[in-house]
Amino acid sequence: MKSLQDQIQEVIAACDAALISTHTQADLEKTKADFIGRSGRMVDLMAQLKTLSLEEKQQFGPLLNGLKQQLQEKFTAKEAEFAKKTLEREQQKLQSFDVTAYKPGKIQGSLHIYTQLIAELEDIFMSMGFEVVDGPELETDYYNFQALNIPETHPARDMHDTFWVSSPGMLLRTHTSNVQAHVMQTHTLPLAVFAPGRCYRNEATDATHDFMFTQGECVVIDKNISMGNLLATAKTFLQRLFGKTDLEIRVRPGYFPFVEPGVEIDASCPFCKNGCSFCKKTGWIELLGSGLIHPNVLRANGINPDEYRGFAFGFGIERLAMIKYGINDIRLFRSGKIRFLNQF
Ligand code: DAH
Repeated sequence: MKSLQDQIQEVIAACDAALISTHTQADLEKTKADFIGRSGRMVDLMAQLKTLSLEEKQQFGPLLNGLKQQLQEKFTAKEAEFAKKTLEREQQKLQSFDVTAYKPGKIQGSLHIYTQLIAELEDIFMSMGFEVVDGPELETDYYNFQALNIPETHPARDMHDTFWVSSPGMLLRTHTSNVQAHVMQTHTLPLAVFAPGRCYRNEATDATHDFMFTQGECVVIDKNISMGNLLATAKTFLQRLFGKTDLEIRVRPGYFPFVEPGVEIDASCPFCKNGCSFCKKTGWIELLGSGLIHPNVLRANGINPDEYRGFAFGFGIERLAMIKYGINDIRLFRSGKIRFLNQF
């Protein structure tokens, strides 16, 4: 017969082997019964103890107790392993896919400053009852010049260094005023439109000039339009844009072939009271070209100037942004420089 010592080692090895193929709670109950149950192998060993001498009993008694404890620990560990697996499975079932759990990395994109500012301008004008319209960037000589009272020989053409394209009579629009004639032809009266968009001029670039830039144009036509309507609209717009209800405007004569009278509108400097670097110590900032629409322009586009009158004003969107955000170089807008773009 094998020694008790050997049998103890065998039981341990057998228990380890049995536990390896124990995969369910039911398996585990059976393994437990096989080893520490009422007719398990532990009971057999204990029964053998009775047959031993007192001396041997003193030697093997503690060993068998140790074995029992060791087996118990193995089962407890297995039980804990099962409990952990069950919990994990349950948690997985509860976990639905949370789309908001996505955490973007450090570099977060944002809308380009153009997009943000144009959306803000559109909001302001829409809240004042204007319709936002689009105009073609590839334009005809007619809409960019002739329909705006700038015939072929007009000296005002010199102010618009034009990119002509290879198709005769076609150009890249030099201003958003080209939408004036379009809306006069497509819209019913009265009308109030705001047209933001890209413009092009064939000129050298520097801190305040770029060959591609953005303008906004406002056109209003109705029966009794006066200078008062123009000034009130321009003032309300500028007050809203700079968020200053005490912003004032001032008017100087200006020449634009498509308006009569033509005026330049300045805003009181939004940053100071007595002159700063923004307003070049004058307290005023030049912002809008404007005037009452020239009767020739109305007539050229099928509107009777004795019945209807209108006003128009235009502005550079980069210039507004440069003043509003303190940007000192127009070339930054299209530079794609992340350090610039990140700020907006
Ligand atoms: N189109 C002019 C420019 O690009 C700006 C302008 C001046 C627009 C007077 C107007 C206006 O509507 O009435 O310089």
